[in-house]
Amino acid sequence: MEIIYSNNLSVQDYCRLRRTVEFYDIPEEHVKRALDRSDFIVVATVDDITVGMARIIEDGTQVFVMDVVVDPEYQGNDIGRGLMEKIREYIDSTDYDRMIVNLITDDTKVAFYEKVGYQKEVGMRLWLERS
Ligand SMILES: CC(C)(COP(=O)(O)OP(=O)(O)OC[C@H]1O[C@@H](n2cnc3c(N)ncnc32)[C@H](O)[C@@H]1OP(=O)(O)O)[C@@H](O)C(=O)NCCC(=O)NCCS
Repeated sequence: MEIIYSNNLSVQDYCRLRRTVEFYDIPEEHVKRALDRSDFIVVATVDDITVGMARIIEDGTQVFVMDVVVDPEYQGNDIGRGLMEKIREYIDSTDYDRMIVNLITDDTKVAFYEKVGYQKEVGMRLWLERS
């Protein structure tokens, strides 16, 4: 399987990929804004189909990694690792002295992130929703 990594992610592919892993839907106008404001986006493509994505925001001292998703039909092919490696290459290309790379995940994904160098620490979230 040839996996091609690039940086162009459409709103439609973002929404479709989130649905493949049963993440909640986000309105398209909010997705557009989120993608526009991302500092780096990586996309994995197989046979011209977008099968994986990840994105970050960063300020030169800290990074937040978001939306690491591989379509379940393509999981287990090192695509998640590839996405995380591309993020690491991007970060290494910046001029940081010290960089803290943050993400939040659940217990079922800890082993995956440990394999690409992350350590488990306590994270906290405030979930807000307008009714
Ligand atoms: C987590 C996810 C991105 C991993 O993608 P993937 O392409 O299947 O992962 P890879 O094939 O690159 O796996 C790399 C290594 O991590 C391991 N790994 C992957 N997912 C794992 C999991 N859930 N638990 C334990 N190990 C895992 C693989 O076995 C592999 O290890 P190896 O090198 O020893 O063989 C993918 O399962 C996914 O999209 N999940 C649903 C969305 C999600 O929850 N994303 C995380 C949001 S925080």
